[in-house]
Amino acid sequence: MSRERITETIAWRSDDPHLTGNFAPIGSEIDADELEVVAGAIPEDLFGTYICNGPNPRYEPVSYNYPLEGDGMLHAVRFEGGRASYRNWYVRTRGFEIEDTACHAVFGGVMTPRPVDPAYLGPGDDPDNPFKASAFIGVMQHGDHLLALGEGEPAWESGPDLETRGPWMAGTDEPILLGAHNRVHPVPGDLFALSYDFMSPTVTMHHVGRDGRLRRSFDIALAAPSMIHDFVLTEHNLVLLIGPLVFDMEAMMTGGSFLQWRPDIGTRIAVVPLTGGNGASATFNCLLRIDTETGDISAHDFGNRIAGEAVFIPRGECETAGWLATYLYDPDTQTSEFVLLDAEGFSDEPVVRLRLPPTRAARPSRHLGAGLIATAIRSTLFGPGVKVCYAPATQYQEGTSERIDHSRRNEPRL
Ligand SMILES: [Fe+2]
Repeated sequence: MSRERITETIAWRSDDPHLTGNFAPIGSEIDADELEVVAGAIPEDLFGTYICNGPNPRYEPVSYNYPLEGDGMLHAVRFEGGRASYRNWYVRTRGFEIEDTACHAVFGGVMTPRPVDPAYLGPGDDPDNPFKASAFIGVMQHGDHLLALGEGEPAWESGPDLETRGPWMAGTDEPILLGAHNRVHPVPGDLFALSYDFMSPTVTMHHVGRDGRLRRSFDIALAAPSMIHDFVLTEHNLVLLIGPLVFDMEAMMTGGSFLQWRPDIGTRIAVVPLTGGNGASATFNCLLRIDTETGDISAHDFGNRIAGEAVFIPRGECETAGWLATYLYDPDTQTSEFVLLDAEGFSDEPVVRLRLPPTRAARPSRHLGAGLIATAIRSTLFGPGVKVCYAPATQYQEGTSERIDHSRRNEPRL
């Protein structure tokens, strides 16, 4: 891995707004020993380094989709003894090296992948891989390891000078693939990392010890190859939000976009034990009720059915009293229901399930399509005399001007 500094400037120009102005790439790697203080003073006791990674295409891209393409470049400001210095360094991934040899871009973008000319590939390169490993999205530290991160590609380890050392093996004999957001468990200090796959309907989770050695990896099956940029780590579980943004090679081959929004798949939440159990994948669709003071979590599991966005409807003055309302879609019957859960008996059977009117005789109930945003309003809709589930803000006694004061009654407040 070359430690030779790159001193050339960017010779090409582009009209792409994401390649101009503040987005314009920086060609040369530099060191600035002492940064000028424009105002104020550097705290004497500030010690450490702030590092940012981002897409910085060295060669004029064949196509460019911000923020999905580029070469990684680490920008670091180091503080010590009231002084600050700066250094930047390209992340010299294998993709970067291939283009360094060619002296021009040879990969297409992630949205427009194309075969790479084999003349530029080495014996260890996969000629069928059209994607450039470029590690420009994230940067993190785990133990002694400083890692530049892309998505679904090797993490590239940097040394103390920021120089690229090579793909991180995590104590194994081959690179492990990581995403841009990974989580260190605060108790054991272990790293939990996610990697999704462009081509296969799988997300892989890695558990790496605080010593930097891979403990285990396990796969979670998905409905389609999906972009999962981030996840949540709790004390005992991984929580994945799997939106319907999927990679579709067939669509791309017929002129469409490689990334497709597929609301028919729905949004799914997977809660996976950190122990992984016997390694089986577990995805299900549930709503969680989290007590932010005690940390208690209760779940309502809808099984194979897919919930929309749930809206809390308060009932009375108690913070926990009320209902959760949502639509529920059953992919087996292709029908939807409206369900209302009691927030205080969250795991119990729904307070009510409502069948939605049929669209045609052959179907017992309609489906709504996967929704995104829901709301509850302070009004009955559909004209006078039709009650929905909410009380209006102001009601008058029939035939009088006397207001009904809902604040003195235990009725829904929105
Ligand atoms: Fe992010």
